[in-house]
Amino acid sequence: RRRIGVLTSGGDAPGMNGAVRAVVRMAIHCDCEAYAIFEGYEGLVKGGNLIRQLHWEDVRGWLSRGGTLIGSARSMGFRERAGRMQAAKNMVLRGIDALVVCGGDGSLTGADVFRAEWPGLLSDLVASGELSAEQVEPYKVLNIVGLVGSIDNDMSGTDATIGCYSSLTRICDAVDDVFDTAFSHQRGFVIEVMGRHCGWLALMSAISTGADWLFLPEMPPKEGWEDDMCSVITKNRTERGKRRTIVIVAEGAQDRQLNKVSSSKIKDILTDRLGLDTRVTILGHTQRGGAACAYDRWLSTLQGVEAVRAVLEMTPKSPSPVITIRENKIMRTPLMEAVQATKDVTAKIDNKEFDTAMDMRDAEFKE
Ligand code: F6P
Repeated sequence: RRRIGVLTSGGDAPGMNGAVRAVVRMAIHCDCEAYAIFEGYEGLVKGGNLIRQLHWEDVRGWLSRGGTLIGSARSMGFRERAGRMQAAKNMVLRGIDALVVCGGDGSLTGADVFRAEWPGLLSDLVASGELSAEQVEPYKVLNIVGLVGSIDNDMSGTDATIGCYSSLTRICDAVDDVFDTAFSHQRGFVIEVMGRHCGWLALMSAISTGADWLFLPEMPPKEGWEDDMCSVITKNRTERGKRRTIVIVAEGAQDRQLNKVSSSKIKDILTDRLGLDTRVTILGHTQRGGAACAYDRWLSTLQGVEAVRAVLEMTPKSPSPVITIRENKIMRTPLMEAVQATKDVTAKIDNKEFDTAMDMRDAEFKE
């Protein structure tokens, strides 16, 4: 029986447990064995009890559970070749020659590097006497399949990452709650949301809650943004009779170093220029925890099933795929193409080359 490993890596995201559950059950359905690698790549490097077989009933009830029940970690060990050699040894000893990795672009790149190095790692393990040629013989090829798990929705080539809609739902609920208190006191609120380099959560939550103003990394504010923001907010409050003001700020839109944009600077502008009693609310990690929404439950399930199919259908020459969703269809895309397209866009954001809308991300992605 083939043994398929599954791990979650990078920041946790709601739906990761659904993905692990689907991989485990689909693997069993396809007459394979499923192994959970606990604590992300760290578990591969350390081995032992961190690599454990999971059975059908072990993942019961995981669909709705938040976070990742098999843990995640930023593994320093796996970044070094020595750590990856240890990881390869642990996999061979456990008879695992396929990995489904659920994480962000960094975690998926790590998986692809591991696959490319695999033959060399095995030769070194034999040359150093750690494993025999007979031991490595059945495991000459490593299959890697990626699932994108991240609340940020920051991967090119897929419409949604596992976790982004749960996070968006939580942000909307939180903004609704803030609305109530803002309305009562006629206050202004600057609400900072996560997303790292990507403004998807900020944009979607601003549209979904009817916020007054928005800051995105993809659209750096233009000269005079202070006046523009103040005039829209003034109009909303005077002509349109709004009692509360909400400004959403993507964490990646802030330029604290140059003090160009920051939540506290925006608060000061609203206070000093408009005389608005204003508070800053940083939603923080409440955006990442909690149960997966319906979308993330079905997305993670369908993608987990597809990941196992991809593992079983891969040939040694096929590039490692990442499982995506495009126009509601679950698809496979070459992992490194998606990662490279994501990197290119992030570089443009960092260099402030964008001043158009965020769908530039997908325009950049070459099919
Ligand atoms: O990538 C997910 C994410 O939550 C980002 O939105 C955020 O920038 C980052 O992780 C926070 O990381 P940490 O949990 O290490 O503080």
